[in-house]
Amino acid sequence: MCGIVGFTGNKEATPILMEGLETLAYRGYDSAGIAVWDGSDIIMKKEKGQLKNLADILGREPVPGTCGIGHTRWATHGEPSFINSHPHGDAKKQLVLVHNGIIENYMRLKEMLQEKGCRFVSDTDTEVVAQLLGDLYRGDPITAIKRSMRMLEGSFALAILFRDFPDRIYCVCKDSPMVVGFGKDGSHIASDIPALLSYTRDVTFMGDKQIAVLSPVGIAFYDEFGSPIDKGCTHIDWDLDAAKKGSYEHFMMKEICEEPIVFRKTAEQYVSARTGRLKADCFPWTEEDAAGVKRIRIIGCGTAYHAGLLGKKYFSELAKIPVEADIASEFRYSDYRFEEGEVLFIISQSGETADSIAAMRMAKQAGIRTVAVCNVIGSTIAREADEVLFTYAGPEIAVAATKSYLTQIIVLFLAALRLGQLRGTVSEEQTASLLAEIASVPEKMQALVDAHGDIQYYASREFSSRHVFFIGRGIDSALAMEAALKLKEVSYIHSEAYAAGELKHGTIALIEEGTLVVALVTQKHLAAKTASNIEEVRVRGANVLAITNGVMPEVDSHCALTWRIPESNELLAPFLAVIPLQLFAYYMAVQKGCPVDKPRNLAKSVTVE
Ligand code: AGP
Repeated sequence: MCGIVGFTGNKEATPILMEGLETLAYRGYDSAGIAVWDGSDIIMKKEKGQLKNLADILGREPVPGTCGIGHTRWATHGEPSFINSHPHGDAKKQLVLVHNGIIENYMRLKEMLQEKGCRFVSDTDTEVVAQLLGDLYRGDPITAIKRSMRMLEGSFALAILFRDFPDRIYCVCKDSPMVVGFGKDGSHIASDIPALLSYTRDVTFMGDKQIAVLSPVGIAFYDEFGSPIDKGCTHIDWDLDAAKKGSYEHFMMKEICEEPIVFRKTAEQYVSARTGRLKADCFPWTEEDAAGVKRIRIIGCGTAYHAGLLGKKYFSELAKIPVEADIASEFRYSDYRFEEGEVLFIISQSGETADSIAAMRMAKQAGIRTVAVCNVIGSTIAREADEVLFTYAGPEIAVAATKSYLTQIIVLFLAALRLGQLRGTVSEEQTASLLAEIASVPEKMQALVDAHGDIQYYASREFSSRHVFFIGRGIDSALAMEAALKLKEVSYIHSEAYAAGELKHGTIALIEEGTLVVALVTQKHLAAKTASNIEEVRVRGANVLAITNGVMPEVDSHCALTWRIPESNELLAPFLAVIPLQLFAYYMAVQKGCPVDKPRNLAKSVTVE
């Protein structure tokens, strides 16, 4: 989705804005622009396409100045074009602004402004905001912002330069994130933390309808009524290098390689290194609370939903609680009635996914306890959920979620184990043995990452596949869904996931000579059943690759090739099996020459519906 950056201070703004936009490019965009106060006027430069196009223009026509805003646009209203790119200004040339989000009543506002004689140059909802603000402005930016806020419906994060206040940036947001940063050379804003990391780790997350005024020497905050408010400062301990590609060709590969580290880091937050036991105070339940949990509902989108599907298995197996997992965009429009004793888990890497936020708010309104599994401190979901179980994946830049999924499933596993422990559905011995095995997982993961060459070779033979089917039973069917999503989103190969037993009910009709089928067989108690399904597709011509939990001769004999993960407990097998699956998707995409980190049509953080 779109990205916003801004800086005012004692350094040239353009390089800071361009570096910030480059960092935010992973969110997906189709045009970019900046606006900088050059000492006598606000100069705008924008261009369709890659940031390089904008950089070329700035190379030919530099814009000096120490206060400016920038934007990468992912088109929603109006095609990607020069005219529709941000920044946008008002007809009276009093201000320019950049915007993330969607203004739902923009047509009504546009007509109202047109009746007053206002002429529009673009098709965007953003220009409507600029013209509205221009219409309301009488010399006091805060009053104009307050009044416009009452008229705007939808979501917005705005960074605004007013000509009358040349070294100030005015910001306001509703249902769209914005972070302000306190740097040594001035004040920064960005729609996402990584864009600030080069300059500061001391940040403040703007709340809904709050207004921030950035000046070179500090930042003032106001509530929606214009009264000054104090906002604390959060220190982000993300490593700057984690947001840089380093020597890797792609972020996706770098992030897969980081998985042993982030797995350990996340597990260590919840399991004491000293005692090897779960840290009771890291989970939001007492024994009494745990006994009162009658039902768990898990929601998320995309990969986060797939993590939720695994969570469902964990909570029902370990804590013996009825669990449902739902796609947030469906759940939010369902007529679901929450029951007493229900807990809603919201899974989200970014903490800013619009549908997940809406589903969470539904539960909160119904008085239901909400627990977020989230990667970003200060994000909307992290702020609004009753409790947060953080994942410690660090910044994830590639659009394809890899390390965030892994950390989500380990957190869900540990939460389920804790609930099971408190409810007496898992014994102390079982808990101790699972935790001891978890401690050995990073090393096994590393061995899988190190074996990436085999997967690269396999991908070099199979990348021309047009369809790939992932099959598995139980926990493997949940993992298969993530494997299929990963492959399709980065390599554009049509891929689908099926519970292995479902094939016979229709899908097997698609199997023909050479069709690639990836069979996940990590659940030993289901291996014989899956082996039969593998045989059914093999005899119909499928080329079967199996991923097995240790040595499984009963599976090998039906497959063209087997990749073995180190033998492990069935519940823990996904932590290992996911690595070859992610590497497979990665190398298939690389072989096909796809833009791995920024697949077409996708954005990292889906902050609009
Ligand atoms: C998967 O690779 C995608 N990045 C996507 O499915 C993602 O998981 C989904 O949009 C949810 O994002 P969130 O975790 O930030 O809420």
